Amino acid sequence: MSNKNNNNKTNKNKLWGGRFDHGPAEAMELLNASIHFDKRLAEEDITGSIAHATMLATQGIISDADLSEIKRGLAQISEEIAAGQFDFKIEQEDIHMNIEARLSDIIGEPAGRLHTARSRNDQVATDFRLWTRSSLDSIVIELKAFQKALLGLAEQHVETLIPGTTHLQAAQPVSLAHHLLAYVEMAGRDVARLGDCRKRMNLSPLGAGALAGTSFPIDRDMTAKLLGFSAPMQNSIDAVSDRDFALEFLAALTISATHLSRMAEEIVIWSSQPYSYIVLDDAFSTGSSIMPQKRNPDGAELIRAKVGRIMGNLVAMLTVMKGLPLAYGKDMQEDKEAVFDSVDHFILSLKALTGMVATLSVNKDAMAAATMKGHITATDLADWLVQNLNIPFRRAHEITGSLVGMADQKKCELDKLSLSDMQSIEADITDGIYDVLDPRRALNSRSSLGGTAPSAVKEQLKLWKEQLK
Ligand code: ARG
Repeated sequence: MSNKNNNNKTNKNKLWGGRFDHGPAEAMELLNASIHFDKRLAEEDITGSIAHATMLATQGIISDADLSEIKRGLAQISEEIAAGQFDFKIEQEDIHMNIEARLSDIIGEPAGRLHTARSRNDQVATDFRLWTRSSLDSIVIELKAFQKALLGLAEQHVETLIPGTTHLQAAQPVSLAHHLLAYVEMAGRDVARLGDCRKRMNLSPLGAGALAGTSFPIDRDMTAKLLGFSAPMQNSIDAVSDRDFALEFLAALTISATHLSRMAEEIVIWSSQPYSYIVLDDAFSTGSSIMPQKRNPDGAELIRAKVGRIMGNLVAMLTVMKGLPLAYGKDMQEDKEAVFDSVDHFILSLKALTGMVATLSVNKDAMAAATMKGHITATDLADWLVQNLNIPFRRAHEITGSLVGMADQKKCELDKLSLSDMQSIEADITDGIYDVLDPRRALNSRSSLGGTAPSAVKEQLKLWKEQLK
């Protein structure tokens, strides 16, 4: 960083320095600049400028000759950026002024007409909406790929028994497919939430000017259309000052990252030795530098942790926006890194999780063995008492509890209690009761809509396969 002091008369900003005696102090320049991160908006900035200039020419506000020069210069800048040859300068503060300054170097005077009837306030709001919209679209594609990976695995495991748990304690037998389809549902709502968010995001702030609109005869419908927005925003003050589209997007990502973290946690648990339900592929496992036997689920642990920063970004941005007076405030420059960071880490997590799901191997025997433990069919036993002995459910619950206590004392599962043991607690029990103690029978019996029986799970699979075609 060059050494600047408050009397530096040579580093006045060319684009807005007219009323200034001297340029910024070094700390001010560093604080004010956003180019080191908002250069990610370069393509959107160029696209937005082309739309704006095209509209200006159509409305006779600039000449066709100026328009073609502007387009030529912007095309060159786009190539320079793509080739890594663009010199991003901190003196030019942000991406908007870097591009405009370079345009002026390339085409001279017509560059100075591009900013007619536009402010950086509507410009940045437009660029940021465009960037966020395209990230949202990429994320939706990735979420669908994740759902397809889950469906692919689920299809092979409609009959695979696992202990369904509540409080992480054996509860009732379910199929692995049923469990995986729960995540398909969550991801489906994540996609829907992003879709709703997109509708509100997809409105054009361009033409709002600094905050009050403009006296030039602009055509906001035209720029909205050129940029793929569904319509212009209706209030110029709102258009430049709100960032709720980004907040909503971050909130949707936070919810989705929370879902991913739950699956990641289950992968960590399921791949641990006491469980051994699954083995992650080598491509998604890591080793230890000291313990040669180790196969660690680092990827899953990181996905579990990433929600921390993604949620943090949402909170950071809510905090920035809270209490801001209308319209634009430079505070809002702090909006971008939160979104960039969340998008980067969300997409990376999601791709890795999709890869894990697509390549992991399932240890059906370990899952089946776990399903034989923990009196997992106790609810079925209670239901049998209700259905066959006409005992009220609360009483059946109590009897079953006593039977579970007896089995624990004898260190066995319910199906190993003898009929006379059972009858010592409820005299009317017959040996028909043993039928319902088999976990597979319990699985098959829960055929209600959305339930775990293969017949019900096949319905869920069918619906999702239709939907994701
Ligand atoms: N870099 C700025 C931002 O991201 C662009 C808008 C600047 N507007 C202004 N009135 N200073 O918010």
